[in-house]
Amino acid sequence: MATMNYWTDKWDLMEDVCPCDVHFNDWAAHEKLTNKTIYHFGTGTHHVVGKTQAENGSGNTVFGITASVEEYDAYVKLVTGNPKVAKNYYAYFGDIYLTNPKLLPDFDVVTLFHLCEFFFPNTASPDYGGVTDLALTALLTDKTRPGGHILFYTRSIGFDKAKPVIAEWETQRSVTRVGEFKTLLVYRKSS
Ligand SMILES: C[S@@+](CC[C@H](N)C(=O)[O-])C[C@H]1O[C@@H](n2cnc3c(N)ncnc32)[C@H](O)[C@@H]1O
Repeated sequence: MATMNYWTDKWDLMEDVCPCDVHFNDWAAHEKLTNKTIYHFGTGTHHVVGKTQAENGSGNTVFGITASVEEYDAYVKLVTGNPKVAKNYYAYFGDIYLTNPKLLPDFDVVTLFHLCEFFFPNTASPDYGGVTDLALTALLTDKTRPGGHILFYTRSIGFDKAKPVIAEWETQRSVTRVGEFKTLLVYRKSS
């Protein structure tokens, strides 16, 4: 029986090494985002995107994915002790490449910070049932509301692989490159 491709590691907050989540919160504050729904790829054990957005009074809500058992355990502990975070931040355990669009709502903002980092040799095989990075990006763009934003992380270890994927995606979807914010690359879906 096949097993799901999960991450055997965990990631604590290391702003100096991987500042994308902190930069995301900075971007959301800079844009004065309020009452937006955010899809977030890669929660970390720290859950700093979900926790911050849930607690900062913005009204933003976060739907995050982790493929790490330790990170998911940290989420259970976090929300068990904090009903406000439990209400405004959902994290789920899964392989993003197995995303089922039937089960996802629409979002105002999608982060794809770890695109191309966790694609396994079997990910897009018929047996496993996953999608390619390009198909994943398209799928989550289709789940982004018109006028919403899609963000990538320019210092990701997968970014060199992600660049041609992003270039191809730009030809397939109605998106506009807004520019860079700190380490993030920001696109807007056309209205
Ligand atoms: C290097 S950590 C970065 C975490 C966080 N974004 C940060 O910068 O602190 C990579 C993240 O991607 C998640 N991840 C790894 N493989 C994944 C997969 N196949 N599907 C969904 N998430 C995955 C991990 O659980 C982890 O949260």
